[in-house]
Amino acid sequence: MKKHITKMIPAALKPALRKIYCFPIDLIDRLKGRDSLIPPRSLIFIGDGDFVKIGQEFKRYFIELADLQPDERVLDVGCGIGRMAVPLTNYLSQEGKYWGFDIVKNGIEWCQTHISSKFDNFHFQHADIYNRNYTPNGKIQAENFQFPYKKDYFDFIFLTSVFTHMLPSDLENYMSEVSRVLRQGGRCLITFFLLNEESEDIIRAGRCALDFKYKVDGCLTIDRDNPESAIAYKEDFVKELFGKYKLRITQPIRYGSWCKRDTFLSYQDIIIATKEHSN
Ligand SMILES: C[S@@+](CC[C@H](N)C(=O)[O-])C[C@H]1O[C@@H](n2cnc3c(N)ncnc32)[C@H](O)[C@@H]1O
Repeated sequence: MKKHITKMIPAALKPALRKIYCFPIDLIDRLKGRDSLIPPRSLIFIGDGDFVKIGQEFKRYFIELADLQPDERVLDVGCGIGRMAVPLTNYLSQEGKYWGFDIVKNGIEWCQTHISSKFDNFHFQHADIYNRNYTPNGKIQAENFQFPYKKDYFDFIFLTSVFTHMLPSDLENYMSEVSRVLRQGGRCLITFFLLNEESEDIIRAGRCALDFKYKVDGCLTIDRDNPESAIAYKEDFVKELFGKYKLRITQPIRYGSWCKRDTFLSYQDIIIATKEHSN
């Protein structure tokens, strides 16, 4: 019911309604003295879930699974409102550098005001890109967007819950851009909803809360009118793309709980890969 009502609200109105809805909680948080690196709930547009806990959880994966070092150059593609950046502020050293870009201007402005002002090695940029779910007025098509960074620049790149909102031609361009700006031997960590025998069986049995039933451009979505609200990809297609862009997947893939499987690491599926050395 809540989902259907939400769908009927025009995108431009949603931030205003969120502000009204969250006003009492934000007021209580302010009175209790909320941490200045945590945005008020009315500004959090990246979904439900505990902002701090999820950030801490992924910081652990970056370090333990992808070997992130404090002095590395990090790129956060689709950085939202700093959920992953905030926990990295007390991990990256002064030699370490963080860049994040996103298509939602408010989120970037919040990060610049509250994070970059305190940590001058943290940089945030806005990209005026179209996404039906987040930025229906965006000007640039994601399939044509060139990341504003030099080739081979980053040691570590991550996308958390971003390709789960992007269509195939956009995804392919971003994979190629990740590979371009990642140095040889650099690592990336990317989350997906992966369709394989196990997840497809669970979806068919109707046990998955995300009902991926509409086929759009070769991927599956839960909402035909707003496909970018949640997108799942065939695991084989994703593996081929990693191969095509010289990103060697580290086994095992860490499958997530999104489809209600019994054994999982996080909510979404996580792939970690290393950029191959060219001979
Ligand atoms: C669910 S949020 C996740 C945000 C952030 N990665 C995190 O985990 O907190 C999805 C994010 O993807 C961003 N996004 C969608 N399409 C994008 C694109 N083409 N380029 C960059 N970011 C994009 C949205 O603006 C949004 O911030």
